[in-house]
Amino acid sequence: MHTDLCDMFGIEYPIFAFTHCRDVVAAVSKAGGLGVLGAVGFTPEQLEMELDWIDDNVGGKPYGVDTVMPQKSVDVEGGNADEMYAQIKSMIDANHWAYVDELMDRFDLPDLPEGTQVGGVLGWTDEVAHRQVEIALSHPICLIANALGSPPKDVIDQAHAHGVKVAALAGKAVHAQRHVQNGVDVIIAQGYEAGGHTGEIATMVLVPEVVDAVAPVPVLGAGGIGSGRQIAAAMALGAQGVWLGSLWLTTAEGGSSPAVLEAYLGATSADTVRSRCYTGKPARMLRNQWTDAWADPNGPGPLGMPLQNILTSEANARIARANRPDLAFAPVGQVVGSMNEVRPVRDVMYRLVEEYIETTERLSAGLEG
Ligand SMILES: Cc1cc2nc3c(=O)[nH]c(=O)nc-3n(C[C@H](O)[C@H](O)[C@H](O)COP(=O)(O)O)c2cc1C
Repeated sequence: MHTDLCDMFGIEYPIFAFTHCRDVVAAVSKAGGLGVLGAVGFTPEQLEMELDWIDDNVGGKPYGVDTVMPQKSVDVEGGNADEMYAQIKSMIDANHWAYVDELMDRFDLPDLPEGTQVGGVLGWTDEVAHRQVEIALSHPICLIANALGSPPKDVIDQAHAHGVKVAALAGKAVHAQRHVQNGVDVIIAQGYEAGGHTGEIATMVLVPEVVDAVAPVPVLGAGGIGSGRQIAAAMALGAQGVWLGSLWLTTAEGGSSPAVLEAYLGATSADTVRSRCYTGKPARMLRNQWTDAWADPNGPGPLGMPLQNILTSEANARIARANRPDLAFAPVGQVVGSMNEVRPVRDVMYRLVEEYIETTERLSAGLEG
């Protein structure tokens, strides 16, 4: 399973794990892969604490950080979190506020305890993402990855000045070429099947297109990969490694809430949908009553990023309080259909590698026979 990416990052297996959970980052890196912490949901202060924890628990192994810097976002002038929320809220129209109120009534969502702060995700504003990069670079990371476009030039330069490689997700070959022109070192070719923000081209088609378009820049295959057989398939398509996100959600360390974990374990590969209801951009998640409500042609439809998440932040907090998987945001890819049991990360990693070896041996034996 050894490829140039293993040497580039000092890892044993070219298995990269995207996760919002620090325990998964540490466990994957300690098992020979590369854990990458998704920073988007953390305030800069929280991110600092998460990275301190990883530094103490990763046993000196390499790890990375992922940010979400969209090419287009609204302008927020900065200030503290409350000021930023207020600026974003003032951009939202009355019709959308009324629809969210109607949905909270329709689904009979419980009130929040007095004094509860509801915020919403600020990590995908330029301002906060830049602060996250500064914090990330003050830790011994080896990779910064970015979703939704190349990171800005100043971020790429800053990362390189610290000896940190830069990766970016791409859902089309032309995006991948643009990333390379911008100075990105590793392309993550992420197909339609993937959990989270995703494009419209399937992994099987996308990976070889991207590999050919950016050669010799290394490519990680992503989207729909949850087994050693699928890793072997991605490598056969020309990828030098793989980038997995969904699979960790049902690990013992994965941090999914009990209700959402149960929904993942029971879901089939036909139970996901691409919806703009949580972030404002198309993202794959389990389909439920909440995603249906935002797809309703009689409703106002979702707003863009980052407005939609701020608009629905109170509703999301009340849904979480109600512990309702029929409404909760449960981002995951189509590979959820084979995520049917909870296992420790170490076992998952071991099985991925073992099945990859079995697969490649089976294919080689076929050549000899
Ligand atoms: C719960 C969840 C959240 C995600 N959030 C992000 C994110 O914040 N940044 C990012 O670059 N990718 C994000 N992704 C996409 C992953 O990085 C990865 O490309 C994707 O999960 C790969 O496909 P898979 O889900 O089939 O493994 C997310 C994926 C999931 C499942």
